[in-house]
Amino acid sequence: MGSFLDDAGRDGGIDVHLRADHRRLAELLAGLDTARPRERTEHLREFARELVSHEVAEELVVYPVVRRQSAEAARICDARLGEQAEAERHLDKLGRLAPGTVEFEQELAQLRVDVLEHAELEEQSVLPLLAVLAGPDREMLARRYVRARSLAPTHPHPAAPDRPPGNVVIGPVAGLFDRLRDALGSGA
Ligand SMILES: [Fe+2]
Repeated sequence: MGSFLDDAGRDGGIDVHLRADHRRLAELLAGLDTARPRERTEHLREFARELVSHEVAEELVVYPVVRRQSAEAARICDARLGEQAEAERHLDKLGRLAPGTVEFEQELAQLRVDVLEHAELEEQSVLPLLAVLAGPDREMLARRYVRARSLAPTHPHPAAPDRPPGNVVIGPVAGLFDRLRDALGSGA
């Protein structure tokens, strides 16, 4: 018999989507290691699309709900969002480097560590805070998350509101986030 989290997963709750995304990101990272040089850029593009849309959807839909639970939950959100911002900075830098150079490989190695460690910490610290929500709330979050992910930008947004405290937004990204929030509405 599964754990409480497994039980939560079977009703189609938000944790199923987050775990599946993390698995997909880990697979894409592993694929980057074995990809032929010519295929690497496209592979990296796909990884970037998956990572950024996953993170933006989490920032818009998941973290605000978790943050409201308690001061400790808010502290956890700040830590996790800081990690996401760091990974995106590496991704942004990677996109401007030539594959195969020493700098590229160093950034890629750091990005891999950032993403995998962050995903594990998120599963350990954030998913339990989602598991305490009622089933219908988890399902509603899942629907909003899927919708946000489909609308999210697909390139790094290092100036976006994922840096703690997460409320200073400047420039065109702010408009993008506003439009996404409007598109999601309250019951999307
Ligand atoms: Fe995540």
